[in-house]
Amino acid sequence: METSCRICSGPVKGSVDLGVQPRGNAFPKPGELAGEFFYPLIVGMCDSCAMVQLMADIPQEVRYHDQYPYRASNSTVHSAHFAGVAHRLLRTELTGRDRFIVEIGCNDGVMLASIAEAGVRHLGVEPSQEVAELARSRGIEVLPRFFDEETAADIRAGHGPADVIFGANVIAHISHLDSVLKGAVTLLGPDGVFVFEEPYLGAVVEQTAFDLFYDEHSFVFSVSSIRAAARLFGLDLVDAEPLAIHGGSMRYTLAKRGARRPTPAVAELLAAERARGLDRHATLEELNRRAERVRDDLTSLLRSLRADGKRVAGYGAPAKITTVTNYCGIGADLIPYVCDSTPSKQNRVVAGSHIPVVPPSVFRQDRPDYAVLFAWNHAEEIMEKESDFTGRWIVYIPQVRVL
Ligand code: TMP
Repeated sequence: METSCRICSGPVKGSVDLGVQPRGNAFPKPGELAGEFFYPLIVGMCDSCAMVQLMADIPQEVRYHDQYPYRASNSTVHSAHFAGVAHRLLRTELTGRDRFIVEIGCNDGVMLASIAEAGVRHLGVEPSQEVAELARSRGIEVLPRFFDEETAADIRAGHGPADVIFGANVIAHISHLDSVLKGAVTLLGPDGVFVFEEPYLGAVVEQTAFDLFYDEHSFVFSVSSIRAAARLFGLDLVDAEPLAIHGGSMRYTLAKRGARRPTPAVAELLAAERARGLDRHATLEELNRRAERVRDDLTSLLRSLRADGKRVAGYGAPAKITTVTNYCGIGADLIPYVCDSTPSKQNRVVAGSHIPVVPPSVFRQDRPDYAVLFAWNHAEEIMEKESDFTGRWIVYIPQVRVL
């Protein structure tokens, strides 16, 4: 299978095949399973710019609907992280008079709340209605639109140029990334920066985190692919900073061409990526083989536990659970329920695999023998919270293990 790159139109060859998948965050109600949307989840890399991307094109209106269930404030670690991001931007980029920051996909306002509290001019761009309302209730100004060139021009006309455009776990979701980059050029002031943090290809490869591929992640970025994309649209990559969040992310800072000198980290990370083969198809092909191994090991472990009469539950229902359960063919016969603290996911089922999502109180009462940790990027927080759990944890990243 071959398509053309969404960024530079170069040839993209499919390397990771995760089968037919529904939308990661669909979480349908048990009575609404007819007509679920499925698509082939194949991931490829562009020969020219090394951008890793989904081969299928899923309309964004299908993904970010009014009831989009993801809440960025879903963990205390994440909330603290984004408050930290806000305070750092306030100290570094938003110090002058009448500064202005735009956040693309502000979700429930987890980052902008601290900016609003500091009285700094801001605008959250958020098309999903329920989360936008949560942000508004925290005193944040929200524009209910998708961010693209046109939105950027309208914001500039209405509010003036931005000193900072920020995005977290959203820029890699936007299949029209070209239009976002053109929009950034339009909206930024001469010394403005476009800062975004997204799951990092290097971490996905290192940890065999194939479940980070789902419909919302149109791309998985690397320093080299972002540098190439930025260049194409008149921007420079001026900084890159590895982050621990979401199992391993990277924060990228782009500025208008020639406006800022790149930090030494950019060249260092580029060299490290070349040494690790993050710009080569073979690396993705190897990831595909390792994902197959995880699939085989996890399904055979769950089947043998079932044969032994053990009770197994799932813990955490991130979008990742949709990829892993559909890829492995794991349904409610192997994992009867998964608990998750997000009310908007509870009493619904995982798309495709139809595993029921219940509140954590059910897990605590039920006391299963084993719990598969699907929210593996929150392992520390969850294991601490569930220190009374007497069963054993099953993890499958980077390989299947019983703890
Ligand atoms: P994320 O990996 O995309 O942030 O999603 C994590 C999911 O795990 C989210 O649905 C909330 C859930 N979760 C719990 O159920 N309990 C917890 O203690 C934490 C931290 C997350």
